[in-house]
Amino acid sequence: MCGIVGYIGNNDSKSILLHGLEKLEYRGYDSAGIAVLNDEGVNLTKVKGRIVNLKERVDESIQATMGIGHTRWATHGVPSITNAHPHQSSSGKFTIVHNGVIENYQDLKKEYLSDVSFVSETDTEVVVQLIEKLYNQYQDTVKAFREAMGLLKGSYAIGMIDADDSETLYVSKNKSPLLIGLGEDFNVIASDAMATLNETDQYLEIIDKEIVLVSRNDVQIQKLNGSIVERKPYTAKIDASDIEKGTYPHYMLKEIDEQPIVIRNIIKEYQDENNQLKLDESIRQAMDKADRVYIIAAGTSYHAGLVGKEFIEKLAKIPTEVHVASEFSYNMPLLSEKPLFIFISQSGETADSRSVLVKIKEMGHPALTITNVPGSTLSREADYTLHLHAGPEIAVASTKAYTAQIAVLSILASDTAKAKGLELEFDLMQELAIVSSAMEVLTDQKEEIEQLTRDFLSTTRNAFFIGRSGDYNVSLEGALKLKEISYIQAEGFAGGELKHGTIALIEEGTPVIALATHENVNYSIRGNVQEVVARGANALIISMKGLEQDTDSFVLPKVHELLTPLVSVIPLQLLAYYAALHRDCDVDKPRNLAKSVTVE
Ligand code: M6R
Repeated sequence: MCGIVGYIGNNDSKSILLHGLEKLEYRGYDSAGIAVLNDEGVNLTKVKGRIVNLKERVDESIQATMGIGHTRWATHGVPSITNAHPHQSSSGKFTIVHNGVIENYQDLKKEYLSDVSFVSETDTEVVVQLIEKLYNQYQDTVKAFREAMGLLKGSYAIGMIDADDSETLYVSKNKSPLLIGLGEDFNVIASDAMATLNETDQYLEIIDKEIVLVSRNDVQIQKLNGSIVERKPYTAKIDASDIEKGTYPHYMLKEIDEQPIVIRNIIKEYQDENNQLKLDESIRQAMDKADRVYIIAAGTSYHAGLVGKEFIEKLAKIPTEVHVASEFSYNMPLLSEKPLFIFISQSGETADSRSVLVKIKEMGHPALTITNVPGSTLSREADYTLHLHAGPEIAVASTKAYTAQIAVLSILASDTAKAKGLELEFDLMQELAIVSSAMEVLTDQKEEIEQLTRDFLSTTRNAFFIGRSGDYNVSLEGALKLKEISYIQAEGFAGGELKHGTIALIEEGTPVIALATHENVNYSIRGNVQEVVARGANALIISMKGLEQDTDSFVLPKVHELLTPLVSVIPLQLLAYYAALHRDCDVDKPRNLAKSVTVE
């Protein structure tokens, strides 16, 4: 959600900024812009739409060795050129890019800026005007910048250029992600290391409310009170080739296909040389101490949490609750005496989850983050981290992170069970290896799934996904996948729940996708299918080897019953993919969505 790139060095900054913004496209955006500074002053280019449009607009003849760029996901004001970043102060001295939401922008406007006329509807323009107002008072950019940052409430990552100073990029952040990348005779700033991996793999973390002065050869980090902070860089361990599409038409398809290998990676990473589960002792102890686990997550990660609850309760015998992050803080349940919070987040940057993390840390509770990005905010701020080892996930629709989250949760639950001396009736790693092979079989069945998409989803406006028990959790994920990328209205339901109201929506031809992978509910879910078919539904039954019947459209290879979500989700991901493709939707960058949701 919004992306920032900045460069200061000896090379032309335009291509570095544009390349960086392309790498941030996956985060979701609706307009973009860059500002570069040279002897002639600041040159600004902004567009509504995609980076490809921005590239066409940028004046190739301008050479500038310093600049900032931005992709905007609209919050305050419609997507438009006027509201796109960078924004400038009235005199043009200051130019900024900003991610996040300034909660007190109306108050700041009233208190400090009543005489200023604004051109955009954004909260960002208030920030840049405020800096100019303070500069006019102090005639000192650092002081004005620092004081302005101190006045902001809310979330922000900010990069700023002063038109009279070609030696410094001014940077600060609070809650929103931003990193400094270090190079030889240049430095960069980026929302995400992926944007600037071509330039460097050395990064410096910025802590909330710090001010950073970035020049070609130096980076100075200050606290808000002006004291200097020393910090060592770290190496970003991302393989640049992981973030290329290769021969795939879309990242989503590539990431669906990567799932078998991701499961194998997870097996490798979480197993020692004696084939025993390998987990940090501190995590084991935290699980052991907990009298209740609270899983906090959003979207697909929340759906993975629902599956994880089953593992933790069935295997480790710890009562577990799963909560939608955006609701938890406002409606906190009565907590147990020794809670352990588990945050599940692909990006590790989801603002809703982070606000819960901040709250529960203030209350003194321990937290474990399960994430694909170990250096992310949720990872840094929690007590413990479990890494998904899924490789960068670029498509907005989460696929391989979901299955990786489930696999890691199964390992956490089994490890806890073993540590507690509980007997497991199966060898988890062996069962995960079987899952990985089953996934391979499924990803090879694309033609069959594409045909099913044509048969069931080609013209429909809506679709229902039903399942019971563990299949219900997956039906929620199947519905989310379909709606977010194909815009078909889709809902997941517990099989028995439809007849309590929603069955009224079933009409002649309404697609109902039913999962039947659990023996104990095989007959009852099929009964629910009969109920909708009797009312005209077009039923697509996905069952599992051993439970299949003649009416089934697709049969999954057999895996351990607890692990069925890892395989049953794959045909649902592919159905969503082909439905979006057939409707000419932008598969990897669906409208209105962002990969990393960094505002609450
Ligand atoms: O990065 P996170 O896992 O915290 O993101 C949570 C959701 O925003 C994310 O899963 C979202 O629902 C995906 N677009 C679904 O495909």
